Amino acid sequence: MTTATVSPASFSPNNAAALIHDAAAVSGRPLSAVTGAEIQAPLIQGGHVRYANLDYGASAPALSVVSAYLNEILPFYASVHRGAGFASQISTSVYENARNIVRDFVGGRPDDSVIFTRNTTDSLNLLAGCLPATDGRPDGDVLYLDIEHHANLLPWQGVRHRSVVAADTIVGTLEVLRAELGQGNVSLLAVTGASNVTGEILPVKALAALAHEYGARIVVDAAQLAPHRRINISTDDVDYLAFSGHKLYAPFGSGVLVGRTDWLDAGTPHLAGGGAVREAKLDGVSWATGPARHEGGSPNVLGAATLARATQVIASLDQDRWHAHEAAIRSFLVDGLGTIDGVTVHQIFSDTDAETGTIGVVNFSVAGYDAGLVAAYLSAEHGVGLRDGRFCAHPLLKRLGIPSGSLRASFGVGSRLEDAQRLLAGLEQLRRTGLGWDYVVDAGRWVPANDTRTYPHWAPNTPGTAGAAPCLDN
Ligand SMILES: Cc1ncc(COP(=O)(O)O)c(C=O)c1O
Repeated sequence: MTTATVSPASFSPNNAAALIHDAAAVSGRPLSAVTGAEIQAPLIQGGHVRYANLDYGASAPALSVVSAYLNEILPFYASVHRGAGFASQISTSVYENARNIVRDFVGGRPDDSVIFTRNTTDSLNLLAGCLPATDGRPDGDVLYLDIEHHANLLPWQGVRHRSVVAADTIVGTLEVLRAELGQGNVSLLAVTGASNVTGEILPVKALAALAHEYGARIVVDAAQLAPHRRINISTDDVDYLAFSGHKLYAPFGSGVLVGRTDWLDAGTPHLAGGGAVREAKLDGVSWATGPARHEGGSPNVLGAATLARATQVIASLDQDRWHAHEAAIRSFLVDGLGTIDGVTVHQIFSDTDAETGTIGVVNFSVAGYDAGLVAAYLSAEHGVGLRDGRFCAHPLLKRLGIPSGSLRASFGVGSRLEDAQRLLAGLEQLRRTGLGWDYVVDAGRWVPANDTRTYPHWAPNTPGTAGAAPCLDN
């Protein structure tokens, strides 16, 4: 991989092309066009600035190609599996074909199931209802690490489970897992592909081999990995994979679970209702097998279709350019944060390869400031959007010594170095001159006092009054 090096001190958006030596001025401009890249954010002190979206890890903007595709298919939007009409048939064919596209994207085996869900959380909950059991008793435990997002932690707490604390190296974590698997009775290893908190990538293939060595299966929570790395579940020998469209540049509300059909066909139907049955009686039912078993009710055809379209765009990216683009922004940001007094960058593992072992996520704290206050300041005074809080990973934040939360900048194919530069400039100014406005806590969130900025006329609110971030409360 080629990585650009740009010194934060010397960087200005105007000279980016001269400073960056490869991959088409690697991240001075977006790698792919996204919808909303030019929206203007109002500043608390007056005026507007281009919104610097550094919150891709929460929900990524739609790829422009995906938005265009949505507009193209929208006129044909109709019921799926339920109508003989022209539009229904088109919608059904688009929906069913989306499964094949997603299967190809993840290198699925021909007999793998591809089930559309609401999101990654839904996918993992679905799988939790499909763990093997004999005479109603679970065959084994689900094993998970303490670094997981709640989506890959809480569903397993409702079934037989064991957790282990990750070591401070990736190599050590594999050893810890080996020791635990060696105790026996693990049916499923549930692990993230990349941490949503720090962006560190876990060695999926090695983890799969380890799980299989001890007779367990593996599910990879790829909510963060899939938008940043190609995954091949056949060559990596991964049994189940879950990810979300809204993090993969298709924010139209669909997720997916791909994987081995036997457990899924024998499992509890995820949504009991129309479409999930072969035959229903007043006091009994014969459940369908295949994706239908778990997709009760009318499916989200546009969500599935746009998710599939997004995977095609991501699959068509030149991988070296893609990784170089995100690595350049990341190293620029990490280097820049290192030059700002009182800023600490957080990571889990000491042996993570900074260049190849991370995705477009950087987590940090600013000494002396509540993370929520810094986020409110960056938004109100600099038009920079990022995430603060505990990232739905409470056990990890506690262990990292930041139990009250930190800040997360995340980016992807639509990002530019300028976005990172705007963040760094805002933090430098905070250090130099402090806050430029008064902030108060309202409904648990820091917001600018006396905020007179307005939303677009169709959005019924005023800035600063949006609800508390999920997983923020202590
Ligand atoms: C690693 C990881 N897993 C799971 C999830 C849950 O994704 P969703 O909210 O789409 O269900 C997230 C969301 O941030 C995540 O980052």
